[in-house]
Amino acid sequence: MKIEFQAEPLTQISSSALVAYSFEGAGASSGTVELLPAEARNQLEQLQTAGELTGKAFECTILRWPTGMATSKLLVVGAGKPEKFNDALLRNLAGAAVRYLRSRGVRELAWILGSSEPGPITAVVDGALVADYDSDTYRTERNGEKGIDTLWLATGGAALPAESQTALNRGRILGEAQNFTRDLVNEPSNRMTPTILAERAKDMALRFGLSCEVLGAQEIQDLKMGAFRGVAQGSQHEPAKLIVVRYSPEDAPNEPVIGLIGKGITFDSGGISIKPSENMHEMKTDMAGGATMLGVMQAVAQLNPRVRITALIPATENMPSGNAYKPGDVLTSMSGKTIEILNTDAEGRLVLADTLTYAKRLGCTVLIDAATLTGAVLIALGTITTGVFGWNKEWVDRVLAAAGAAGEKMWQLPVDDDYRDLYKSSIADLANTGGRYGGAITGAMFIGEFAGDTPWVHLDIAGTRWANDEKPYRSKGPTGHGVRTLVQLLTSLNP
Ligand code: BES
Ligand code: ZN
Ligand code: MN
Repeated sequence: MKIEFQAEPLTQISSSALVAYSFEGAGASSGTVELLPAEARNQLEQLQTAGELTGKAFECTILRWPTGMATSKLLVVGAGKPEKFNDALLRNLAGAAVRYLRSRGVRELAWILGSSEPGPITAVVDGALVADYDSDTYRTERNGEKGIDTLWLATGGAALPAESQTALNRGRILGEAQNFTRDLVNEPSNRMTPTILAERAKDMALRFGLSCEVLGAQEIQDLKMGAFRGVAQGSQHEPAKLIVVRYSPEDAPNEPVIGLIGKGITFDSGGISIKPSENMHEMKTDMAGGATMLGVMQAVAQLNPRVRITALIPATENMPSGNAYKPGDVLTSMSGKTIEILNTDAEGRLVLADTLTYAKRLGCTVLIDAATLTGAVLIALGTITTGVFGWNKEWVDRVLAAAGAAGEKMWQLPVDDDYRDLYKSSIADLANTGGRYGGAITGAMFIGEFAGDTPWVHLDIAGTRWANDEKPYRSKGPTGHGVRTLVQLLTSLNP
């Protein structure tokens, strides 16, 4: 998508569609509709009287050949109640315009900017790119290919501050990073094996000037990652990979080194504790945490914050086979802690345990993991909100603040010593499950046992990784949830 500023007077813009928004109850003279010439506003008022334009959020009303204007199509998007308006909503309004128009064959649109502040510019660009994505990759006739070619940001001739282009670029970087993550999550497991995920990581790293190292089965064994290896051993035909991507700008202070650990299970059958077949296909998305971290690294490489970051992604399938690990087995993790396997379907915490240990060995001083870890978090928070866990209040608060600023919904759930009894084992140091009750908490705390004293924050994205329904501003399918929050966090640290 080509995205550029457009300084022509609004009346002279001849792009195939011009887009304005108006608020609910405020008539046809609120929002960017106010910037239109009086004749066109009169026509909109007639539509309002006829009940065709109410300003309700995401309502789309087309006015053809507005009087006194060069465009053939004016689209008015409802912006809802003015008191609820913010950059997060603006992102979705731009998205709604994109999806409405592209489904009607429009390839070029001009969005009227209501503000020359950087935040709104970033939001519009980001929202347009995210909305222009469809998950129907393998359909012969793809919606995903009928996207918007050109987005103009129409200023109406108003002077733009110097940081406007930076704001536009940031929107593009964010939107493209989320769509990269979504592409990876969307792939079925036969086309997104650990080997392929590692290749995609290497391609991205090469393109954006990051270093990428991929450890194979032998190295995982040599490092004594017994927990990771236990999960991987049932998958003889698709060898496990540990993907390490580094961003270390010379001018950054030596600390902190942020470790971003993303769960990379390319298919989670449950293993010997096999899952029911209903909805098992959804487990192709069990590498969404890893995909999130790769999206974040792609964005960071372009935004250049002064902070050192290492992403680590343990990638493997979780499969039943004659070689698979079994309930009752005891694994020795890289940390030396022993783990009794009570359920082979609690595999995410095992691969993450060893990867956290390795991240610390590589010098990471703060650990943030993202994982499709538990069904329990879906019961708790649904598909809207990511669960946030951690003992370190400072870093948990930073993540929550970043989520607020990025417009992603995240909510803290507790960790507490009283839950530790639930995952005790009578034969080993820990058991890999803590039972049904509080499953998202015990899953998180199991991972936290391997962080030790290092500040650690866990994001359980099992609910938010995927959208089962289409919205006016995004397709159903992979969401890329988490990317914006982590990029916001990393670009606002200023160590
Ligand atoms: N990958 C699943 C969690 C999941 C569930 C992700 C639904 C996305 C949607 C994870 O590996 C898993 O199977 N967790 C088990 C843990 C249990 C055995 C302790 C679960 O949540 O049932
Ligand atoms: Zn899993
Ligand atoms: Mn599982």
